[in-house]
This record gives sequence, structure tokens and C-alpha cells, in this order.
Amino acid sequence: MSAHTSNRRQFLQNIGLGTAAIATLPIFGCGDKDDDTGGGGGDGGATVNDDWEAMAADLEAAGIFTPDDPGEWEGKEGSHTPSVSASGTSVTVVTDHGMSVDEDHWIDHIYLRDQDGVVVGLQMFDGTEAEASSTFSLPEGTTSVTPYSSCNLHGLWMGDTIDV
Ligand SMILES: [Fe+2]
Repeated sequence: MSAHTSNRRQFLQNIGLGTAAIATLPIFGCGDKDDDTGGGGGDGGATVNDDWEAMAADLEAAGIFTPDDPGEWEGKEGSHTPSVSASGTSVTVVTDHGMSVDEDHWIDHIYLRDQDGVVVGLQMFDGTEAEASSTFSLPEGTTSVTPYSSCNLHGLWMGDTIDV
């Protein structure tokens, strides 16, 4: 399970990813975490939220930028790469990017993937918020998180993974 997920994540990160390519990936078919009978506690990892997974997959289908691979947006790294900090089981993701409906330019999603690639928190924004910041409470068993932040003009960016 985790090897499968790791391979998928690595695959996502290593290629440019057209929409057609990701459509063939088994995003939902690689495990038992979304089995209704399997939930609750133990060491089974985070519960999969299908809506979050679908939103993240849609965003990632268009490509993932990083400071080392900013693609067409070189120079935008500082204002688009999210950072994450942890305090106990609470983590906060911040993207140092303005929020402006008037300029039709804002951060529209922030989310986190855990060590298994499961989306363990996602927040949508409509541009009226004061800042692009989200605080999430992590599921039991989370050992690391990777932050993602999507700008409605400059795409999806991935920040550094931290241990929690
Ligand atoms: Fe932007």
C-alpha cells in the first residue's frame, strides 16, 4: 500500500503530467483506506476523504511547481511556495501571497498530504480572506506532512515536507 502510494507520488512529481495521463492513474483504487468497514483508530492511517482526494488530483493533473522546478513561473517561487509549521498535532500552512478578488488573483486551495500521500486537510478560499493560511488538526498516526498551495493564476506549488 504505502509503496504503491509512494510510487504514484514520485511519478506525479517526476513528470509534467497531462490531464490524460493522470486520468489513467488508480487514484482511488489502491487501498482499503476508503472502505467503510475499515475506519476508526488503530494503526490504519488517515481516513481518506474522497472529495479532498479528487480536488487534489484535479489540481495536480495540471502539474506541480516547486522552487527547484517553477516551470513557466520562475520568479514566483517566494510568493507561491507554501510553508508548514507544527505544534503538537496542529499544523499551519502559510503562503505569502496576496488575496484580492478585485484583481482576480488569490490562493484558492491549501492542502496537506501525509506520509502515505493521503490528503489529511484541505481548505478552499474565495479570495475574500485576509491571508492564505490554514490550520489543520492532524489524524492520529501522521508522521510527516507536505503542504500544497494553489494560486488561481499561477498554479499548484508544493513546499517542503516536515516531520510531525
Ligand atoms: Fe499567484
